[in-house]
Amino acid sequence: MNIILLGAPGAGKGTQAKRLEESRKLVQLSTGDMLRAAVASGSDLGLQAKEVMDAGRLMPDDLMVQMISERIEQDDCRAGFILDGFPRTTPQAEALDEMLTGKGLRLDAVIEMTVDEEVLVERITGRYSCSTCGAGYHDKFQVPAKAGVCDQCGGTEFKRRADDTEATVRTRLDAYREQTAPILPYYRNKGILKTVDGMAAIDEVTRQIEASLAA
Ligand code: AP5
Repeated sequence: MNIILLGAPGAGKGTQAKRLEESRKLVQLSTGDMLRAAVASGSDLGLQAKEVMDAGRLMPDDLMVQMISERIEQDDCRAGFILDGFPRTTPQAEALDEMLTGKGLRLDAVIEMTVDEEVLVERITGRYSCSTCGAGYHDKFQVPAKAGVCDQCGGTEFKRRADDTEATVRTRLDAYREQTAPILPYYRNKGILKTVDGMAAIDEVTRQIEASLAA
């Protein structure tokens, strides 16, 4: 099964993709994570990505299409994948269709996660993760069982993303509204768009996604 999780920054795409990886044995393909890995490596791509991401803008379509095309070729994607953060523009959506057709693959579902903008700002500015294993947390909505200790690995160092400031989040939300939301009708017309209430509690969102995939 190949699916897309679509939603504004902070809608919960990463949170739910991790759960689908476990429950359905799919591979999470997060373009944001791939770009952050490039930034950490100090490559030319990483230098470009850092500037663009810190400003809350989008990376060029051709680079992102090439990145996903190469990733989907890898063996672990044969069992199916979850696209998280891609496509983000109409040219990316069209290129994805062409790419999948060329590889003899197809999309099974596109899940839209809807959340009010003010809630998104609160979610993103309160988000942090374990520096050791990457497990995600939130100041209010997802705190570790023992304060200051990662539930997954016991690590005690945590970090926040450089683009999770309120000003950058507002620019990212503008980019979503102007460049990403217009691709929703593209998938609605294909009959594969399903919408879940991203405002619900994390477990309830998971339940709604599983129900829509089973339908
Ligand atoms: P990317 O990393 O994809 O960021 P994003 O789309 O802005 O999404 P986020 O990771 O911020 O949010 P999320 O929806 O995954 O939410 P999460 O689950 O963490 O992209 C970053 C940048 O890279 C872009 O701005 C762009 O520059 C570039 N880029 C990436 N892909 C690109 C592309 N294809 N083309 C061009 N440029 C690209 O949840 C957020 C918080 O809320 C967490 O703390 C979580 O615990 C909490 N939470 C989640 N669900 C709930 C819930 N139901 N209730 C309460 N709290 C919840």
